[in-house]
Amino acid sequence: MESKNITVNWKEYCNASELEQSDMDLLSVAREASNDAYAPYSGFMVGAAIRLENGVIVKGTNVENAAFPSGICAERNALSTASANYPGIRPVAIAIAARTSRGLTAEPVSPCGNCRQVIAEEEFRYGKGIRIILGGSSRVRIIEKGGDLLPLQFSRDDLKVIP
Ligand code: THU
Repeated sequence: MESKNITVNWKEYCNASELEQSDMDLLSVAREASNDAYAPYSGFMVGAAIRLENGVIVKGTNVENAAFPSGICAERNALSTASANYPGIRPVAIAIAARTSRGLTAEPVSPCGNCRQVIAEEEFRYGKGIRIILGGSSRVRIIEKGGDLLPLQFSRDDLKVIP
């Protein structure tokens, strides 16, 4: 038996003015986008903003549905929008922010497991990590690449067992 161990690294900022300008700009777009979320069932409005390698910024929000599983998260909405409208252009960074009726969440919101898997696929597709910017109003976290949030992830290597 061998015990193994995974370490996750991230940077945490309590003062948004310490952020790189490009990260702050992307987070501002995500915060704005959260106002456009369609979240009548949870009241949890999420905005995502992706910066592509060509400098274009693509927005996404969560879009809920009365049939709950038919809803989509802001991150996957933004990633799908980017893939459909800017095929072949690599996503460099994604910022995520959320608000409720009381305003922006104080704590950063982390992408759900489903979105982490989709981020991981984009990282594989373009062979490079996507910078993750998680913005709360009292704290911002930066993770250098989405894969850090999904250790031991399912990937195409796992499909190699199919004859
Ligand atoms: N949601 C997102 O859009 N992104 C996240 O990172 C976490 C959760 C959405 C899904 C659902 O519409 C609502 O937030 C509550 O879970």
